[in-house]
Amino acid sequence: MHIHPDTHRFLHRRDKETLLGQRGIVVWLCGLSGSGKSTLANAVERVLHQQGRFTAVLDGDNLRAGLSANLGFTDQDRLENIRRIAETAKLFVSQGIITIVSAITPRGELRDLARGLLGSDLIEVYVKASYETCEKRDVKGLYARAARGEIQHFTGKDGSFEPPQSPDLVLNTETSSIEDAAFELLETIRERIAI
Ligand code: ADX
Repeated sequence: MHIHPDTHRFLHRRDKETLLGQRGIVVWLCGLSGSGKSTLANAVERVLHQQGRFTAVLDGDNLRAGLSANLGFTDQDRLENIRRIAETAKLFVSQGIITIVSAITPRGELRDLARGLLGSDLIEVYVKASYETCEKRDVKGLYARAARGEIQHFTGKDGSFEPPQSPDLVLNTETSSIEDAAFELLETIRERIAI
């Protein structure tokens, strides 16, 4: 393949960040389905938006309706899903956008991939809740379906989930309210986006 990426001609990230008055960052929320990732992403984005920050949410469930519509939940498909999300987040962060990713990202290999692409722009956040808790919440009814054997490769059941070894932040949604968890996350973000 003969491709010649040319980044010098175009405006730089710093030009965008100066315009927006913020530094771009990727806040990557990982954790089981039903752990509270999307709820937290939504809460945090609304506060930042109110504060005049320019944000974007990349949500696994939504992306799987479009960008990743051709992917399922095998290890291989999840790897490709995460690669696409991480590459998209990389494009967004290079435009100075505060990018919030909400995706299960169940294995170390997947988080390493994201880290490899995003480097120091990444804040890895583990949204922690046990399988049993998420099963009790079962907002989408998926845990009941998985228990009946209707969903293959279900994360935490017949699909693996490896808790992150060294996340930048752990938010335990069993012991903290969403409001408290969102507040803690906002504190972490605030110091990273200041220009
Ligand atoms: S990831 O593993 O590739 O990061 P992603 O976050 O994009 O997953 O998508 C997870 C969402 O897909 C869940 O919130 C759930 O609504 C839905 N889903 C459908 N099938 C499965 C499955 N087998 N395991 C987990 N989630 C599933």
